[in-house]
This record gives sequence, structure tokens and C-alpha cells, in this order.
Amino acid sequence: MFEVKNLCKNYGKFRALNHLDMIVEEGELFGFVGPNGAGKTTTLKILAGLLKADEGQVVIDGVNALKQPNRLKEAIGYMPDFFGVYDNLRVSEYMEFYAAAYGIYGLQARTQYRELLDMVDLADKEDFYVDGLSRGMKQRLCLARALIHNPKILILDEPASGLDPRTRYQFREILKDLNTMGKTILISSHILSELSEMCTDIGIIDGGRMVLRGSMVEILTMVNSANPLEIVVCDKLDEALKLLRRHKLVRTISVDSPKIVVTFGGNQKDEAFLLKMLVEAGVMVNSFVRKQGSLETLFMQITENKDERLVSSNEA
Ligand SMILES: Nc1ncnc2c1ncn2[C@@H]1O[C@H](COP(=O)(O)OP(=O)(O)OP(=O)(O)O)[C@@H](O)[C@H]1O
Ligand SMILES: [Mg+2]
Repeated sequence: MFEVKNLCKNYGKFRALNHLDMIVEEGELFGFVGPNGAGKTTTLKILAGLLKADEGQVVIDGVNALKQPNRLKEAIGYMPDFFGVYDNLRVSEYMEFYAAAYGIYGLQARTQYRELLDMVDLADKEDFYVDGLSRGMKQRLCLARALIHNPKILILDEPASGLDPRTRYQFREILKDLNTMGKTILISSHILSELSEMCTDIGIIDGGRMVLRGSMVEILTMVNSANPLEIVVCDKLDEALKLLRRHKLVRTISVDSPKIVVTFGGNQKDEAFLLKMLVEAGVMVNSFVRKQGSLETLFMQITENKDERLVSSNEA
């Protein structure tokens, strides 16, 4: 659907994006995560055509859209991380203004924005002043405006920040619906539990580079397989330890009574065989679980390095 290739952006001597690569396939709900200052907003602004890259490409439908800003604007709807101030502007005028920016006027504009206001549950707020809306309403309004030209790609920069749990839930449901309706969505967020619940794919950016990319299922499986197995037995502890020591996929064993903690290199099927072997040897196994990992654990592990990034002539 779109591909970011070798994207670089410097702010003075500071390199905010350092040869960033990213592929987002059609229909994905892609979570874009990284610590503060990683370069998420910078990347998203470049994708929205609001910031110029120093190097690199954004390929949409086989064309480098950075060279054709109109193509970029047509394909992408962007919801920024900051809402802005709109004095004396009503919701209807706000939507009309953005529709006009895309060359949509009159009845067509009204029909389109009413449909969108309805979708984000603001149909009864058309005559309200934008600045008088609550934060949650402003966020939803901003989402509606990002969709005014019916873009195929929707880009959202921390849309859930500052929202209460109910509004976040509502927002998430709208995004899932949009995704089901065929929109490809790229969303940056710090609320990792929410991303793991909603996203199909995930990319982690750190220091202006993509450090990990994969489907949500793949990545969570990877996190889990790095975690130890915890086995509790009711009897025959010595027999269990003897069998475990002999097993070729067992790396380390520690006993934290009544638990045996085992780092185990195998997959789920290997785990099942290990359990079978223990039971068949007459060991009474009380519980046998792989400690569940989370996106938080992974995020903490891979974003530890916080070196300053300066532009230098010998940088790869
Ligand atoms: N206009 C600017 N001038 C100078 N430096 C900037 C500018 N905008 C961003 N930066 C720097 O570029 C780096 C990346 O910033 P960016 O806003 O893209 O990060 P982010 O991943 O969105 O962070 P956050 O999670 O805090 O929103 C940061 O170190 C930031 O200080
Ligand atoms: Mg940001």
C-alpha cells in the first residue's frame, strides 16, 4: 500500500530520522510505537506532506509521492497530535473549511461531513463552537475532518492521548470499523496495551530508525518464547529435574519451590512434548505455563539505548 524508503530528516545538526524504512500493506491497522523523541511525529508529518524530508522516498502505488504532493494529500488523511485553536468557528464551518481545502463544496460537502459527524457521534453538535467542545469531542471532530476527502490511508498521531477510558474505547471501535471498511490505518500511540488489542501489525521506532516490524501475533509469540516456562510438580521433583537436565532444548533450570523455572528454546509443540514426557515418567504436574510477555516488556528491552544522534559525514 505504501512504503517509506531510506527516510532522513535533520533538524540543524540533529538527525531525527536516520534512514527509516517501513512497509505498510493494504488493510493493515499498523501501530507505530517508540519512546518520546523517537521520530514518530516527524515521520507522520512527512507522510502528511507537512514537512520536507532531507532524503528518501514515500512510495504510494509505485510512485514517489514526496515528488508529487497532491498524490500524497489525496491518498492520506492525517490527524495531528495537536488540535489547534479555532476562535468563533462552528463545527459545520470547520468541516466546510476542510472540505473546501479538498475542493468539495455545497451540498456534496454537507452530505459528506454530516455522514462523518454521525459516524463520530457529533451529529447534534453541528452548530456548536469548536473551542467549546470537550477534548474527546475535539479528537473525534479531528478524525472526521481527516476523512473528509475519503482517503484510503488514515494517519493518526497519538489520537488517544488525554481521553478517558470510555472515549478511548469508542475511538478504538471507530478505528476498527474504518479498518474493516477497507481503510489502511497507521496509528502512533504510547498506550501499548491498547495497540496490542487493536493493531494487526506493529513497528517500533527508536533513534529515528525502525528497530522491529512484524505482525502482532508474530511479535507477541516472539516475546513469549523468550520467557521462561514455570512448572509446578506435586511430587518426584528429583525425577522431574533429572528429565529436564537431559532435555536438549532446556537451557537453564532454577528451583524456586514449588516452582521450577526453565528457560526453554522450543516452540509450542516442543512444550507439549516436554509436558507429555514428564507426565509419562510419572511426575505429577500441577501447572505448566509459559510466562506471558507483553508489548511493554519488549518495548522496554529494545528501546534502552538513548545515545544522541548527530549528523556526521561517516554515518551509515
Ligand atoms: N522543529 C524541530 N526543531 C528541532 N528539533 C525537532 C523539531 N521537531 C522535532 N525535533 C526533534 O526531533 C526528534 C524527534 O521528534 P518527534 O516529535 O518526531 O518525536 P516523537 O517520536 O513524535 O516523540 P513523542 O513521543 O514525544 O511525540 C526529537 O528529538 C525532537 O526534539
Ligand atoms: Mg510525537
